[in-house]
Amino acid sequence: MFGADVDVLQLEFEESFDLNVNDLQKLVKSNTKLIVLNTPNNPTGSIIRNSDMKDVVEIARKIDAYVLVDEVYRPLFHSVDPVVDELPKSIVELYEKGISTGPMSKAFSLPGARVGWIASKEKSFINECFSKRDFCIISVSALDDQVALFTLKHRDAIIKRNYRFQYMVTEFNLGSGEKKFKTNCIGLEKLFRYRESNPGLPGESGP
Ligand SMILES: Cc1ncc(COP(=O)(O)O)c(C=O)c1O
Repeated sequence: MFGADVDVLQLEFEESFDLNVNDLQKLVKSNTKLIVLNTPNNPTGSIIRNSDMKDVVEIARKIDAYVLVDEVYRPLFHSVDPVVDELPKSIVELYEKGISTGPMSKAFSLPGARVGWIASKEKSFINECFSKRDFCIISVSALDDQVALFTLKHRDAIIKRNYRFQYMVTEFNLGSGEKKFKTNCIGLEKLFRYRESNPGLPGESGP
């Protein structure tokens, strides 16, 4: 891609699809320019722990490489209890050459708007992004921009609702009970439609 050699780091089922920092270290070379990661991971849901991310930063810092993290579900983290667990930090909080990207699509339930973010503490990088954006797309739709802004103003309510929803789906996927899922759906019929043989997903029209 873009004339670069790309090595792929495989996540292993036996390791719960967790990032293996030793495997990453083996792939990194002295001329590596960019390390790209995704957390929470789609489709496995695995999360890179803060301690592992700090190790990644150390690896990158030694060779002055950027670390781009696709933080696609932020701030929704499967299997993290926001009350008791330490929330995963964004890469921009951990590394001066960290770049975070994310969409409104997942945690904010706004895939149609085609709006997202790119964040970094490195101003020259952000200026480059502005320049490329001007050249490639000029602007997103102003209407989508306004819808995204409105959504972000109600961020807390949306995230709260989506945490609740995510919990139920996770329980269901883990097989901890169709019964429990059905019970949880009571009162949420507008969001869910439960199908006996083929569980429905929110927003799907039923049979
Ligand atoms: C890991 C990951 N990154 C990025 C995206 C892109 O999201 P969007 O729908 O906003 O283009 C997706 C979408 O499924 C994804 O799974």
